[in-house]
Amino acid sequence: MMMSRVSAGARRETGQRSATAFCPTPAGVLARALDYIRAMCVCLSLCTISSALAGAQELDRTGGPFVPTPQVVVDQMLHMANVGAKDFVVDLGSGDGVIVLTAASQLRAAGYGVDIDPALVKYSNAEANRLGISDRASFHVQDVFKADLSRATVITLYLLPSMMVNLRPKIFLESKPGTRVVSHDYNFDEWEPDDQVVLDVPEKEKVNGVPRATISLWIVPARVQGKWQVQVDGGEGYDMTLRQKYQSIAGSASAPGKDTKLTYASLRGEEISFTVIDGSARRSFIGKVSGDAMQGTVELGANRTARWSATRS
Ligand SMILES: C[S@@+](CC[C@H](N)C(=O)[O-])C[C@H]1O[C@@H](n2cnc3c(N)ncnc32)[C@H](O)[C@@H]1O
Repeated sequence: MMMSRVSAGARRETGQRSATAFCPTPAGVLARALDYIRAMCVCLSLCTISSALAGAQELDRTGGPFVPTPQVVVDQMLHMANVGAKDFVVDLGSGDGVIVLTAASQLRAAGYGVDIDPALVKYSNAEANRLGISDRASFHVQDVFKADLSRATVITLYLLPSMMVNLRPKIFLESKPGTRVVSHDYNFDEWEPDDQVVLDVPEKEKVNGVPRATISLWIVPARVQGKWQVQVDGGEGYDMTLRQKYQSIAGSASAPGKDTKLTYASLRGEEISFTVIDGSARRSFIGKVSGDAMQGTVELGANRTARWSATRS
């Protein structure tokens, strides 16, 4: 299996990774294979269906039919999200449950999946029982728009492009900053991924005509837009204004009677960094956002550091 990482417009090869299947029974394998064949018949191409759905308003809330994510892609999605025993994985449109079942059985994570198809939910819960992980993995008949994201540390998706875009505000506003969101093939349009990998997956050619899978990762950013009062312990204070478009931030900093400028602002989850040019001095701030507060450390130059905090007005 070949894998390429796409980052900031550049594509480079990064190597190979082995699969860690959740090891279903022969009956399970057969059921999954039958589902797969059924999905292929139903779904000549997700992309074709996507365009067909584009103008159909009543289908805006439909993420598409069941097409399983191949195990090798599931493994890579969980790997990119760095899923471990402390994680709570929510799969929106969980199909046969493979993502949450793999996370729970192989990586000892907990989580749940939601799907509108009761037969798929029943199958997924039966698999969780058979694997002895029903205390950590469960599946529910529910519309993805109603799913509770409050416990999620990882969210996974394999849904049609229009559904991805419709879900974007819910994910941005309802999930905790720092939540890792991983998607198979489709993206959030103007919310650009923080990382992306392209895998060669020959078996996908039969399903959608493309022998590749694109896996994208987003880290849900803290919401930092607004006016902040920044105070360095025992030192200067600044009025800082931040503008935000998802993980992209920029703004300005001012202090009475001084020539100040904000540069190099960046945000990853709840971790923020920015530099204030204060006259001839350069102050580099790093810190953590928590609601309407931030705090961290600032480099003042000449090996001096100080604590700082900020509140939003
Ligand atoms: C392409 S399959 C992905 C299945 C699984 N997540 C995987 O990656 O193998 C999409 C699934 O989303 C479900 N789905 C579509 N629209 C939905 C909605 N509005 N709410 C919940 N599930 C939905 C479908 O029933 C289907 O099982």
